Amino acid sequence: MQAMEGEQRVVVVSGAGISAESGIPTFRGVEGYWQVGSKNYHPHELATLSAFRRQPREVWSWYLYRRGVCLRAEPNAAHHALVRLEQHLNERFTLVTQNVDGLHGRAGASREQTYEVHGNIRFMRFDDVGELDPRLIPEELSTDWARGRQVHDDEINYLRHACGVLGRPHVLWFDEYYDETRFRYDSTLRAAEAADLLLVVGSSGTTNLPVQVAERVSERNIPFIVVNKDVDSYFVDLAQHSQTGAVLIGNASEWIPVVVDQLIKAM
Ligand code: APR
Repeated sequence: MQAMEGEQRVVVVSGAGISAESGIPTFRGVEGYWQVGSKNYHPHELATLSAFRRQPREVWSWYLYRRGVCLRAEPNAAHHALVRLEQHLNERFTLVTQNVDGLHGRAGASREQTYEVHGNIRFMRFDDVGELDPRLIPEELSTDWARGRQVHDDEINYLRHACGVLGRPHVLWFDEYYDETRFRYDSTLRAAEAADLLLVVGSSGTTNLPVQVAERVSERNIPFIVVNKDVDSYFVDLAQHSQTGAVLIGNASEWIPVVVDQLIKAM
Protein backbone atom coordinates (compact mmCIF):
# COMPACT_ATOMS: atom_id res chain seq x y z
CA MET A 1 0.00 0.00 0.00
CA GLN A 2 1.42 3.38 -1.05
CA ALA A 3 2.17 5.74 1.87
CA MET A 4 0.04 8.87 1.98
CA GLU A 5 1.59 12.14 0.91
CA GLY A 6 3.55 13.57 3.81
CA GLU A 7 4.31 10.09 5.15
CA GLN A 8 6.64 8.75 2.43
CA ARG A 9 10.05 7.59 3.60
CA VAL A 10 13.17 8.10 1.49
CA VAL A 11 16.42 6.11 1.68
CA VAL A 12 19.53 7.46 -0.03
CA VAL A 13 22.57 5.26 -0.72
CA SER A 14 25.75 7.16 -1.57
CA GLY A 15 29.08 5.89 -2.87
CA ALA A 16 32.51 7.27 -3.71
CA GLY A 17 31.12 9.01 -6.80
CA ILE A 18 29.33 11.66 -4.71
CA SER A 19 32.71 12.77 -3.33
CA ALA A 20 34.67 12.55 -6.59
CA GLU A 21 33.93 16.21 -7.41
CA SER A 22 35.22 17.15 -3.95
CA GLY A 23 38.59 15.80 -5.08
CA ILE A 24 38.50 12.44 -3.32
CA PRO A 25 39.53 9.71 -5.79
CA THR A 26 37.27 6.70 -6.09
CA PHE A 27 38.77 3.26 -5.47
CA ARG A 28 38.64 1.90 -8.95
CA GLY A 29 41.04 4.35 -10.63
CA VAL A 30 44.86 4.22 -10.65
CA GLU A 31 44.81 7.04 -8.10
CA GLY A 32 43.75 4.42 -5.58
CA TYR A 33 47.14 2.71 -5.76
CA TRP A 34 49.58 2.92 -2.85
CA GLN A 35 53.31 2.59 -3.34
CA VAL A 36 55.56 1.00 -0.70
CA GLY A 37 59.13 0.81 -1.95
CA SER A 38 58.84 -0.39 -5.53
CA LYS A 39 55.59 -2.26 -4.94
CA ASN A 40 52.20 -0.94 -5.99
CA TYR A 41 49.39 -2.05 -3.70
CA HIS A 42 45.76 -2.02 -4.84
CA PRO A 43 43.24 -0.91 -2.21
CA HIS A 44 41.81 -4.41 -2.05
CA GLU A 45 45.26 -5.64 -0.92
CA LEU A 46 45.69 -3.00 1.80
CA ALA A 47 42.13 -2.51 3.05
CA THR A 48 42.09 -5.87 4.86
CA LEU A 49 42.59 -7.08 8.43
CA SER A 50 45.17 -9.59 7.21
CA ALA A 51 47.22 -6.81 5.57
CA PHE A 52 46.98 -4.77 8.77
CA ARG A 53 48.22 -7.70 10.87
CA ARG A 54 51.05 -8.34 8.38
CA GLN A 55 52.18 -4.74 7.81
CA PRO A 56 50.40 -2.35 10.22
CA ARG A 57 52.67 0.61 9.43
CA GLU A 58 52.07 0.44 5.67
CA VAL A 59 48.33 0.19 6.23
CA TRP A 60 48.32 3.08 8.74
CA SER A 61 50.50 5.17 6.38
CA TRP A 62 47.98 4.68 3.58
CA TYR A 63 45.04 5.56 5.83
CA LEU A 64 46.76 8.65 7.25
CA TYR A 65 47.37 9.81 3.68
CA ARG A 66 43.73 9.21 2.72
CA ARG A 67 42.57 10.86 5.98
CA GLY A 68 44.48 13.99 4.94
CA VAL A 69 42.89 13.96 1.47
CA CYS A 70 39.43 13.63 3.03
CA LEU A 71 39.94 16.32 5.68
CA ARG A 72 41.24 18.79 3.09
CA ALA A 73 38.26 18.16 0.80
CA GLU A 74 35.00 20.12 1.03
CA PRO A 75 31.43 18.86 0.64
CA ASN A 76 29.97 19.67 -2.78
CA ALA A 77 26.49 20.67 -4.02
CA ALA A 78 25.31 17.06 -3.91
CA HIS A 79 26.17 16.66 -0.21
CA HIS A 80 24.46 19.97 0.59
CA ALA A 81 21.34 19.09 -1.42
CA LEU A 82 20.91 15.84 0.53
CA VAL A 83 21.02 17.85 3.77
CA ARG A 84 18.15 19.98 2.43
CA LEU A 85 16.20 16.80 1.76
CA GLU A 86 16.86 15.51 5.27
CA GLN A 87 15.74 18.84 6.75
CA HIS A 88 12.51 18.59 4.73
CA LEU A 89 11.74 14.94 5.56
CA ASN A 90 13.19 14.76 9.10
CA GLU A 91 12.83 11.22 10.49
CA ARG A 92 11.40 10.04 7.12
CA PHE A 93 14.92 10.35 5.67
CA THR A 94 17.77 7.82 6.00
CA LEU A 95 21.20 8.20 4.43
CA VAL A 96 23.30 5.04 3.97
CA THR A 97 26.81 5.99 2.91
CA GLN A 98 29.67 3.71 1.89
CA ASN A 99 32.03 6.67 2.13
CA VAL A 100 34.45 6.97 5.03
CA ASP A 101 35.34 10.58 4.13
CA GLY A 102 32.89 12.23 6.57
CA LEU A 103 31.73 14.80 3.97
CA HIS A 104 28.03 14.15 4.59
CA GLY A 105 28.46 15.01 8.26
CA ARG A 106 30.51 18.10 7.44
CA ALA A 107 27.72 19.25 5.09
CA GLY A 108 25.26 19.03 8.01
CA ALA A 109 23.78 15.51 7.73
CA SER A 110 22.62 14.27 11.15
CA ARG A 111 24.54 11.53 12.97
CA GLU A 112 21.29 9.78 13.88
CA GLN A 113 20.07 9.36 10.31
CA THR A 114 23.43 8.93 8.57
CA TYR A 115 24.57 5.32 8.57
CA GLU A 116 28.32 5.16 7.82
CA VAL A 117 28.20 1.48 6.88
CA HIS A 118 31.92 1.32 6.05
CA GLY A 119 33.11 3.45 8.98
CA ASN A 120 34.83 6.84 9.09
CA ILE A 121 38.48 7.55 8.29
CA ARG A 122 38.82 10.17 11.03
CA PHE A 123 38.40 7.49 13.71
CA MET A 124 40.27 4.49 15.06
CA ARG A 125 39.27 1.55 17.28
CA PHE A 126 40.85 -0.65 19.93
CA ASP A 127 39.00 -3.92 19.37
CA ASP A 128 41.76 -5.98 21.00
CA VAL A 129 41.23 -4.27 24.37
CA GLY A 130 37.43 -4.51 24.13
CA GLU A 131 36.86 -0.79 23.60
CA LEU A 132 33.81 -0.62 21.36
CA ASP A 133 33.51 3.13 20.75
CA PRO A 134 35.69 4.57 17.99
CA ARG A 135 38.02 7.41 18.99
CA LEU A 136 39.11 10.38 16.89
CA ILE A 137 42.62 9.90 15.48
CA PRO A 138 44.75 12.45 17.43
CA GLU A 139 45.20 15.82 15.78
CA GLU A 140 48.94 15.54 16.43
CA LEU A 141 48.97 13.33 13.34
CA SER A 142 49.24 15.73 10.45
CA THR A 143 46.47 15.92 7.89
CA ASP A 144 49.04 17.13 5.36
CA TRP A 145 50.35 13.60 4.78
CA ALA A 146 52.43 13.26 1.62
CA ARG A 147 51.53 10.37 -0.66
CA GLY A 148 53.91 7.47 0.06
CA ARG A 149 55.13 8.86 3.40
CA GLN A 150 55.62 6.16 6.05
CA VAL A 151 54.49 6.73 9.64
CA HIS A 152 57.46 7.31 12.01
CA ASP A 153 58.19 5.66 15.39
CA ASP A 154 57.18 8.72 17.44
CA GLU A 155 53.97 9.14 15.40
CA ILE A 156 52.86 5.53 15.71
CA ASN A 157 52.64 6.04 19.49
CA TYR A 158 49.68 8.42 18.98
CA LEU A 159 47.84 5.39 17.59
CA ARG A 160 48.44 3.23 20.65
CA HIS A 161 46.15 2.57 23.61
CA ALA A 162 47.50 3.46 27.09
CA CYS A 163 48.24 -0.25 27.51
CA GLY A 164 50.45 -0.14 24.42
CA VAL A 165 48.14 -1.98 22.00
CA LEU A 166 48.09 -0.45 18.50
CA GLY A 167 44.69 0.83 17.35
CA ARG A 168 43.27 0.22 13.87
CA PRO A 169 41.37 2.46 11.46
CA HIS A 170 37.60 2.52 12.06
CA VAL A 171 36.74 1.24 8.61
CA LEU A 172 35.16 -1.99 7.35
CA TRP A 173 37.81 -4.06 5.56
CA PHE A 174 37.23 -6.42 2.64
CA ASP A 175 37.81 -9.51 4.82
CA GLU A 176 35.46 -8.31 7.58
CA TYR A 177 31.70 -8.31 8.08
CA TYR A 178 29.00 -5.71 8.59
CA ASP A 179 27.41 -5.52 12.03
CA GLU A 180 24.81 -3.32 13.73
CA THR A 181 26.94 -1.88 16.51
CA ARG A 182 29.66 -0.38 14.32
CA PHE A 183 28.06 -0.21 10.88
CA ARG A 184 24.23 -0.08 11.38
CA TYR A 185 23.64 -3.26 9.32
CA ASP A 186 20.20 -4.20 10.73
CA SER A 187 19.04 -0.57 10.80
CA THR A 188 19.95 -0.23 7.12
CA LEU A 189 17.91 -3.26 6.10
CA ARG A 190 14.95 -2.09 8.19
CA ALA A 191 15.10 1.30 6.47
CA ALA A 192 15.11 -0.45 3.07
CA GLU A 193 12.01 -2.48 4.02
CA ALA A 194 10.17 0.71 5.05
CA ALA A 195 11.29 2.88 2.11
CA ASP A 196 8.78 4.44 -0.29
CA LEU A 197 11.60 5.67 -2.55
CA LEU A 198 15.31 4.87 -2.95
CA LEU A 199 17.91 7.24 -4.40
CA VAL A 200 21.35 5.75 -5.22
CA VAL A 201 24.17 8.15 -6.09
CA GLY A 202 27.76 7.52 -7.20
CA SER A 203 28.16 3.84 -6.58
CA SER A 204 29.29 0.93 -8.76
CA GLY A 205 27.39 -1.58 -6.62
CA THR A 206 30.33 -3.79 -5.70
CA THR A 207 29.61 -4.07 -1.98
CA ASN A 208 27.10 -6.31 -0.30
CA LEU A 209 24.85 -4.17 1.91
CA PRO A 210 23.99 -1.43 -0.64
CA VAL A 211 23.14 -4.15 -3.17
CA GLN A 212 20.83 -5.81 -0.62
CA VAL A 213 19.10 -2.44 -0.07
CA ALA A 214 18.48 -1.94 -3.80
CA GLU A 215 17.27 -5.51 -4.29
CA ARG A 216 14.81 -5.29 -1.39
CA VAL A 217 13.41 -2.05 -2.77
CA SER A 218 13.28 -3.35 -6.34
CA GLU A 219 11.47 -6.54 -5.24
CA ARG A 220 8.74 -4.38 -3.67
CA ASN A 221 8.34 -2.37 -6.90
CA ILE A 222 9.19 0.81 -5.03
CA PRO A 223 10.46 3.70 -7.19
CA PHE A 224 14.23 4.02 -7.25
CA ILE A 225 16.38 6.63 -8.91
CA VAL A 226 20.04 6.08 -9.80
CA VAL A 227 22.38 9.02 -10.38
CA ASN A 228 25.77 7.96 -11.74
CA LYS A 229 28.46 9.40 -13.97
CA ASP A 230 28.86 6.25 -16.04
CA VAL A 231 26.68 3.28 -16.85
CA ASP A 232 29.28 0.94 -15.27
CA SER A 233 27.20 0.36 -12.17
CA TYR A 234 25.16 -2.58 -10.95
CA PHE A 235 22.57 -0.07 -9.77
CA VAL A 236 22.22 1.44 -13.26
CA ASP A 237 21.70 -2.03 -14.66
CA LEU A 238 19.14 -2.95 -11.97
CA ALA A 239 17.20 0.27 -12.52
CA GLN A 240 17.20 -0.16 -16.30
CA HIS A 241 15.67 -3.62 -15.92
CA SER A 242 13.08 -2.57 -13.36
CA GLN A 243 9.59 -1.15 -13.98
CA THR A 244 10.09 1.34 -11.15
CA GLY A 245 13.72 2.34 -11.87
CA ALA A 246 14.96 5.65 -13.34
CA VAL A 247 18.56 6.40 -14.37
CA LEU A 248 20.18 9.84 -14.58
CA ILE A 249 23.67 9.70 -16.09
CA GLY A 250 25.90 12.62 -15.13
CA ASN A 251 27.65 14.30 -12.23
CA ALA A 252 26.17 14.06 -8.74
CA SER A 253 26.65 17.80 -8.14
CA GLU A 254 24.47 18.57 -11.18
CA TRP A 255 21.73 15.96 -10.79
CA ILE A 256 21.26 15.59 -7.03
CA PRO A 257 20.12 19.21 -6.42
CA VAL A 258 17.58 18.79 -9.26
CA VAL A 259 16.26 15.49 -7.89
CA VAL A 260 16.09 16.90 -4.35
CA ASP A 261 14.09 19.93 -5.51
CA GLN A 262 11.56 17.63 -7.16
CA LEU A 263 11.32 15.32 -4.13
CA ILE A 264 10.79 18.27 -1.77
CA LYS A 265 7.91 19.45 -3.96
CA ALA A 266 6.39 15.97 -4.15
CA MET A 267 6.81 14.93 -0.52
N1 APR B 1 29.04 11.83 -10.11
C1 APR B 1 28.32 10.68 -10.04
N2 APR B 1 28.89 9.43 -10.09
C2 APR B 1 30.24 9.38 -10.20
C3 APR B 1 31.06 10.53 -10.27
C4 APR B 1 30.41 11.79 -10.22
N3 APR B 1 31.09 12.94 -10.30
N4 APR B 1 32.37 10.13 -10.40
C5 APR B 1 32.36 8.78 -10.40
N5 APR B 1 31.10 8.32 -10.29
C6 APR B 1 30.63 6.93 -10.25
C7 APR B 1 31.47 5.96 -11.07
O1 APR B 1 30.95 5.85 -12.39
C8 APR B 1 31.29 4.66 -10.28
O2 APR B 1 30.17 3.90 -10.78
O3 APR B 1 30.74 6.52 -8.91
C9 APR B 1 30.97 5.11 -8.86
C10 APR B 1 32.11 4.87 -7.89
O4 APR B 1 32.28 3.48 -7.79
P1 APR B 1 33.35 2.91 -6.73
O5 APR B 1 34.65 3.61 -6.87
O6 APR B 1 33.29 1.41 -6.86
O7 APR B 1 32.76 3.36 -5.31
P2 APR B 1 31.64 2.65 -4.44
O8 APR B 1 30.55 2.11 -5.27
O9 APR B 1 31.30 3.62 -3.38
O10 APR B 1 32.40 1.41 -3.79
C11 APR B 1 33.49 1.71 -2.99
O11 APR B 1 33.81 -0.38 -2.01
O12 APR B 1 36.01 -0.21 -2.33
C12 APR B 1 35.04 -0.54 -1.37
O13 APR B 1 34.54 -0.16 0.91
C13 APR B 1 35.08 0.44 -0.23
O14 APR B 1 33.33 2.06 0.33
C14 APR B 1 34.18 1.55 -0.68
C15 APR B 1 33.34 0.90 -1.74
